[in-house]
Amino acid sequence: MRTTAVILAAGQGTRMKSNLPKVLHPLAGRPMVLHAIDLARAVSPEMPVLVIGHGAGQVRAIVGENARFVLQEPQLGTGHAVQQAESLLRLKTDLVLVFYADMPLLRPETLCALVETQTANPGPLTMLTLLADDPRGFGRILRNGQGNVIGIVEEAQATQEQKAIRELNAGAYCFRADWLWEALKRVPLSPKGEYYLTDTVGLAAADGLEVRALTLEDAEEAIGINTRIHLAEAEAIMRRRINERHMLNGVTIIDPHSTYIEAEVQIGRDTVIWPNTYLHGKTVIGESCTIGPNTIVRDTQIGNACKVLMSVLEGALLEDEVDMGPFARLRKGAHLCKGVHMGNFGEVKDSTLGPGTKMGHFSYIGNATIGPDVNIGAGTITCNYDGVRKHPTEIGEQAFIGSDTMLVAPVKIGARARTGAGAVVTKDVPDDTLAVGVPARAIKRLVQRPPEDSGAA
Ligand code: UD1
Ligand code: CA
Repeated sequence: MRTTAVILAAGQGTRMKSNLPKVLHPLAGRPMVLHAIDLARAVSPEMPVLVIGHGAGQVRAIVGENARFVLQEPQLGTGHAVQQAESLLRLKTDLVLVFYADMPLLRPETLCALVETQTANPGPLTMLTLLADDPRGFGRILRNGQGNVIGIVEEAQATQEQKAIRELNAGAYCFRADWLWEALKRVPLSPKGEYYLTDTVGLAAADGLEVRALTLEDAEEAIGINTRIHLAEAEAIMRRRINERHMLNGVTIIDPHSTYIEAEVQIGRDTVIWPNTYLHGKTVIGESCTIGPNTIVRDTQIGNACKVLMSVLEGALLEDEVDMGPFARLRKGAHLCKGVHMGNFGEVKDSTLGPGTKMGHFSYIGNATIGPDVNIGAGTITCNYDGVRKHPTEIGEQAFIGSDTMLVAPVKIGARARTGAGAVVTKDVPDDTLAVGVPARAIKRLVQRPPEDSGAA
């Protein structure tokens, strides 16, 4: 049976007290609405329909090609919201799976089970319920003496007796499409001035049709986000799920409570993540690495067997066996080739450090291309910016840059060249040449690599 998801995301989310539409608040680093879209796409190959209204332009821009949109204007309740999808879907789908964009913890397996249950139901709808002691303002499920579902009452309209009911409406439903479109026309206006989707349940029961309820085993899945307190609760649960997934895949997480990994991050087996580590965005980490403690990594690719200690990495690429930190910083376009060692208080941006190159202490390297096995002495700076433009620096293989060298770009240091401590290099230094002083002058042609005396490793 063709099943199409209709996701409701038009409400204002007043209780969030936010300028940002509720469904764009991030969870595990991704706007809530994208979690909802992923969920829909995991359940059905049909392109989901997203009902938008409040902040429609912003929501559309974030979702892009991943859904079809219908506009609900004004927003007259969840029943009215679903109705907006009728013209798009009438006769185009057998089942309509409705859920709210503010329930990011729902699992695809659960929605699949909901669809399956409805497929076997002679009646027109199946809904998801949960049993909980804390009602969280959810609608209460009404059942008759035989235990059949006969309606849902919203908290605002519930009597004291109904408020005590522990079976709650999770907010996900699977409808037979032809029945749904007709039923929505019969939904009455609620005392709050809205058309509630939940009233379709009472309509079906009143017609003597069978409503089935699937009860969640894990009530956590139903956490709907209405306030920022709920947002933090959901974030903690999502974080736990993500960490558990990585641990089951062979990653050691020393302290899951203080490890923050966003949804799309990938980590190879036998990697160890130490506490207070944040892995963001499209970060990919290889096998057998040690990351953290106290490390932030964003949109960065890290190879195998790397060590990153107390450092901040963003938009960088590390090949295998790179060892960095503590207190190192990689910015956009930093590329550390295999076996690079980068010690404390260094910063690299838009630069490549060749295989085996060492940069031990207090350096800034920007817009530079550095060959293999170069030694960058303590305090070396690429003076890459003249106030208007950035200029490149090139350093050839096995060069030895003395401590506190200023490389005034554009400038080239030849292969196996050396600079003396404190040199201010304003002109290119040829291969196999020693340059010293301010500004640096070439003073001698090097026959072979001299003993290491003018740089700190
Ligand atoms: C709703 C249910 C309640 C259920 C709870 C579960 C109704 C009437 N009530 O209450 O039974 O227990 O969810 O979390 O359905 N929306 C629109 N257009 C509108 C109104 C809402 O698109 O006109 C969207 C919202 O953006 C939101 C979703 O529908 O994503 C649910 O609306 P919300 O106001 O959060 O409903 P609840 O009060 O949580
Ligand atoms: Ca809600």
